[in-house]
Amino acid sequence: MCGIVGYAGYRDCSDVLVDALSKLEYRGYDSAGVAVFENGEIKVCKAQGKLEMLRKKMQEEGKPQGRVGIGHTRWATHGEPSDINSHPHSGAKVTVVHNGIIENYRELKEFLSAKGVEFVSETDTEVVAQLLNYYYKGDPLDTIIKTISDLDGSFALGIIFADYPERIYAVRRESPLIVGIGKDENYIASDVPAILKYTRDYYLLDHDEIAVLTDSEVNIYDIHKEPVEKTLMTADWDESAAEKGGYEHFMIKEIHEQPNAVNMTVKPRVVDGLPNLEECGITHENIKSFKNIFVVACGTAMHAGMVGKYVIERLAGVPVTVDIASEFRYRSPIVGEGDLVIIISQSGETADSLAALRLAKSLGAKTLAVVNAKGSSIAREADMLVYTHAGPEIAVASTKAYIVQLAVMYLFAFELSLARGKITEEQCRELTLSLLAVPELIGKILETDLEKSQYISTKLLSADSLLYIGRGLDYALSMEGSLKLKEISYIHSESYAAGELKHGTISLITDEMPVIAVATQRSLLEKTVSNIVEVKSRGAMVIIITREDFTIDEKAYDFRIDIPSTDDMLMPMLAAVPMQLIAYYTSVLRGNDVDKPRNLAKSVTVE
Ligand code: G6P
Repeated sequence: MCGIVGYAGYRDCSDVLVDALSKLEYRGYDSAGVAVFENGEIKVCKAQGKLEMLRKKMQEEGKPQGRVGIGHTRWATHGEPSDINSHPHSGAKVTVVHNGIIENYRELKEFLSAKGVEFVSETDTEVVAQLLNYYYKGDPLDTIIKTISDLDGSFALGIIFADYPERIYAVRRESPLIVGIGKDENYIASDVPAILKYTRDYYLLDHDEIAVLTDSEVNIYDIHKEPVEKTLMTADWDESAAEKGGYEHFMIKEIHEQPNAVNMTVKPRVVDGLPNLEECGITHENIKSFKNIFVVACGTAMHAGMVGKYVIERLAGVPVTVDIASEFRYRSPIVGEGDLVIIISQSGETADSLAALRLAKSLGAKTLAVVNAKGSSIAREADMLVYTHAGPEIAVASTKAYIVQLAVMYLFAFELSLARGKITEEQCRELTLSLLAVPELIGKILETDLEKSQYISTKLLSADSLLYIGRGLDYALSMEGSLKLKEISYIHSESYAAGELKHGTISLITDEMPVIAVATQRSLLEKTVSNIVEVKSRGAMVIIITREDFTIDEKAYDFRIDIPSTDDMLMPMLAAVPMQLIAYYTSVLRGNDVDKPRNLAKSVTVE
């Protein structure tokens, strides 16, 4: 999704903007641009393609020279990726960068066209620039307030007015925006990593709040022009957390950060050997009597919810429905008082997940957010909140954020089961102890399975399509394994419940269809192996991911990856790792842009 930055200070503004934008590349984009005050005039430079293209254009056309400006990476929504559609967009007196979608832009465009305004791009953003320009009578704050009152949809806007070359204005509704506070310099950005090199202090802008920045001052107003006092936040990680640190890609770095991320997420929530989520607003009293639980999320986070479903139902005996957020919000879900809706989201800003949260609340359900990004919208609006402590995840393909989402699902399931008297304290202690031991086991896998996974990737390079199969928790996990592979290798892949194959999909099996089978569940082993034999005997090359203490007939598979053993229920946290590695190496070997796969965005803040 689009990324916004802005700077007012003493440094070379173009350099700061491009550098800050490079820290937002992970969000996904197809063009970039900046607008900088040069000798009191707004100078714009923008280019389709990666930031490199913008840098090149700046060299050719002359880098805008100044100390105040705004910048943008665009992920095309209205109008194809092109120089013209790239941001910033301008009216005569106003220049704008925008993240989000203006839903009523057509009506506004017609209105402005009727007044004689001419448009050069196909974007909804140019409509905002022209509307600001239309209302502008000399007071930027009044102009912004009037303009945003006309806008429907989501937006984070960075705005500069030609008459005020020392200032940047910023405003948001739904889409995220922070204001970074430095010494003799201030920033705006879509996300914290953009400014970490310069400062760790920032304000979170709330809906319809307007920030006015110069190099020495930041003032924030509400929609009635009243000044707002904000709490200064400090990022608890430094710049190095958002850098590759010697690894070739963020993804492999983040895979290696998993043991630490799990420790950070789990350890502080274990007291006397038992899970304790009180600081998150979760007590035995307030969770024990939910009738139904819904887990609502998108992408990888939804897959974490699938694992959660199996674990919560098995241990706590509460029915769990997992929903894709974009379906939940439009399918008239039967949710209400006495139900719990868990929203899982790394970014805490995914538009559909946020809408699902609001819907659940309006229907009377209690809500619990499992979120990685501090202070994000989902984190702020849920009744209960468990932060995952993965640190910044930069690679688009989620790895460490998924693992810690699983960890929270387990902690919650253990606590819920204990609260409902479904497990004894003794059993809960044992499970918690096993969860605490997971980081070390992941570390072991990272030591022993790297080369094997790399080798297996060489066998997948030429496949057009492959299948992931498993039963029970292995099936829930294989959904994530399959997504990981397809999103970064661009090889088509599906996950299938192993027992369901024979009802159709097995007809696809040939010697050109590799199958990755996950078999970590003791009670299902025999049945899973029968399904594996079914595909093997039809010619498939079978890669099995299983545990070191399982004996499986060698004729059933071509390659075997062994992982250490722990409680069956926790095996997904281990089996996920070789799957991530296989996806990673396959993408590397195919020469893909591993961290920024085509067409994808890290944080999807539009529907
Ligand atoms: C995007 C990302 C996925 C992510 C999904 C949900 O599609 O590319 O990796 O799983 O959004 O994001 P969230 O921030 O809500 O977890």
